Amino acid sequence: MAKSKILVVDDDPLVCDSLKELLLLEGYAVDTAPDGQVAVTKVKGDHFHLIISDIQMPGLNGMELLKELKGVEPDAPVIFITGHGDIEGAVEAIKQGAYDYVTKPIDDVRLKLTIQRALEQRQLLRSLNDLKKRLKPWDVQTTITFRDPKMAQLLELVHTIADTQATVLITGESGTGKTLLAKYLHEHSDRKDRPFVKISCGALSETLLESELFGHVKGAFTGALRDKRGKFEEAHGGTIFLDDINTASPSLQTKLLRVLQEKCLQRVGGNTDIQVDVRIICATNTSLQEEVAQKKFREDLYYRVNVVGLHIPPLRERLGDIAPLAEHFIRRFNLLHRRRVKGLAKSALQILLRHPWPGNVRELENVMEQAVILSRGDWVVPESLPAFLREKPLSPLPQTENLTLDEALALAERHILQETLERCHWNRQEAAKILGISRTTLFNKMRRFQLFGHRTRGRSPLSQQSPPA
Ligand SMILES: Nc1ncnc2c1ncn2[C@@H]1O[C@H](COP(=O)(O)OP(=O)(O)OP(=O)(O)O)[C@@H](O)[C@H]1O
Ligand SMILES: [Mg+2]
Repeated sequence: MAKSKILVVDDDPLVCDSLKELLLLEGYAVDTAPDGQVAVTKVKGDHFHLIISDIQMPGLNGMELLKELKGVEPDAPVIFITGHGDIEGAVEAIKQGAYDYVTKPIDDVRLKLTIQRALEQRQLLRSLNDLKKRLKPWDVQTTITFRDPKMAQLLELVHTIADTQATVLITGESGTGKTLLAKYLHEHSDRKDRPFVKISCGALSETLLESELFGHVKGAFTGALRDKRGKFEEAHGGTIFLDDINTASPSLQTKLLRVLQEKCLQRVGGNTDIQVDVRIICATNTSLQEEVAQKKFREDLYYRVNVVGLHIPPLRERLGDIAPLAEHFIRRFNLLHRRRVKGLAKSALQILLRHPWPGNVRELENVMEQAVILSRGDWVVPESLPAFLREKPLSPLPQTENLTLDEALALAERHILQETLERCHWNRQEAAKILGISRTTLFNKMRRFQLFGHRTRGRSPLSQQSPPA
């Protein structure tokens, strides 16, 4: 653990110096400030675990400092030094949220104990908040369910890089588990006890987003009534997860580049550099490379962001995951909805395996929640599944009576090609992979069979998919 850092604020240089000496001997890192204004500036540019301050000071006094600190370093306890007899001031300070006070002349032993207790309490509160955030009744820790070798390989890579500082870019279609993977990565890194802060770059207007990320200073814009820390500072020591990074505006991209390069930022409207120690994980469901090619995304930022790339394949490319995921969701929703569903009937699994899952794991999760709620018996059976999955008829092979063998085979081949292409939303690369042929071969066959329709509805998927072992 790094040393706890304390800021001592007093207009009397003698008090500052003697306290500094005392605290250094106790093994703390110490900085001093001669008044409240300087203290605020220092806190904005650095992070302190605790602040010791005189109440009576010229300029910004102790109480005003306390108010300012709430916007900048809200977790740091403040201990006040009061003149002998100024009990009223001390009581008021505690009411306003100070941790405790010590009276002059300062009793070293009492001060040391007060500091120790304050730091312990701060640590406890932080752990408690962290726990609360993580604790959901049905999900105590972040777990990733998988059986498919593609996911096994991906997670192996995740564990290899978890403890490094490397910036990570997670790619994958919507609902594949990007946010979950980011959280998992954080929880398996040595930053796991520090904050995991998540923000979507697409959710807010440009100005609001920049202020959310970098904070702002009082008066930076209408409504900025006081200084505010941004998400980057909140994540100090931990991880920040920038979702939908592809939607970042050019101005935001420039600022992100600076944080990545110099580990340094300025609050909106401010001009003080603030150092931050943050691991950055980004996610996108579009191809950033394409955005770079179209000049929508800075190339230099792309390389900074994509130090390690983690691609989560769509669910339809890891059919092996469907059964374990479905079982996992059954267990989870049993707890949430007080059900006792035992598992998935084979016939129901067959239906799940045939669906192309355009909404990926999130879609499967929704389907299983409904199924658990609607199940009347012990097992999820086809009837428990939503109609749109069930009603899709299995498409039989075309009639081949009266055809020569060559003709029948050609008809069957065309049928299989069409079904596979539809399942992959006419993505030829994917279809070729599933069929085990090259893209050129697939293209030639498509030409031969005149398969260039883009129908994606009303046809059923391949019926020959067998469930995983
Ligand atoms: N391998 C998995 N094991 C268990 N749950 C999973 C898995 N993958 C995804 N989920 C669950 O599926 C849901 C969707 O995942 P998540 O939100 O991480 O997807 P996403 O890729 O971030 O989606 P979006 O692109 O919309 O942001 C979540 O509830 C998540 O917990
Ligand atoms: Mg997400």
